[in-house]
Amino acid sequence: MTAPYLSVFLGFALLGGAHGAASAAGDALRGQALYQSKCTSCHSIDYNGVGPAHQGLFDRKAGGRPDYTYSPALQSSSIVWTEKTLDKWLTNPEKFIPGQKMGIMVPSAKDRADLIAYLEQETAGK
Ligand code: HEC
Repeated sequence: MTAPYLSVFLGFALLGGAHGAASAAGDALRGQALYQSKCTSCHSIDYNGVGPAHQGLFDRKAGGRPDYTYSPALQSSSIVWTEKTLDKWLTNPEKFIPGQKMGIMVPSAKDRADLIAYLEQETAGK
């Protein structure tokens, strides 16, 4: 009975360790493929679509693009995008910011870490 719990715990411990060692725990190359398959139907780095463009995302306030119409919930939140807040957002946007309007979740911690690594690399300096 304890084995599955132990492996989940070890998984988190390993992720946590990798995270401490490098600024981004994820694999940006894999993240790029995930971004293309899961995100580009609504987002791009440089242009607004159904969702806002992602350029300049890190350290920006959520809902911070003046040229995109956000939900009032996202717009009025006081969240700033970092690896940590993006991880929570992608895990369950509605739980993180109730009333927001993005309808997808990324349940895998590995996928989230890779997506965040890609975003961090791709939006740097933009
Ligand atoms: C079905 C369309 C759709 C998909 C697919 C989608 N998003 Fe979104 N995303 C949105 C919308 C709409 C918003 C604006 C939410 C709001 O205003 O409440 C948003 C907002 C965001 C924000 C906040 C941006 C800001 O400027 O504050 C981030 C970060 C984000 N999405 C990341 C992602 C990532 C990463 C993926 C792929 C895993 C993804 N989204 C997939 C529609 C989508």
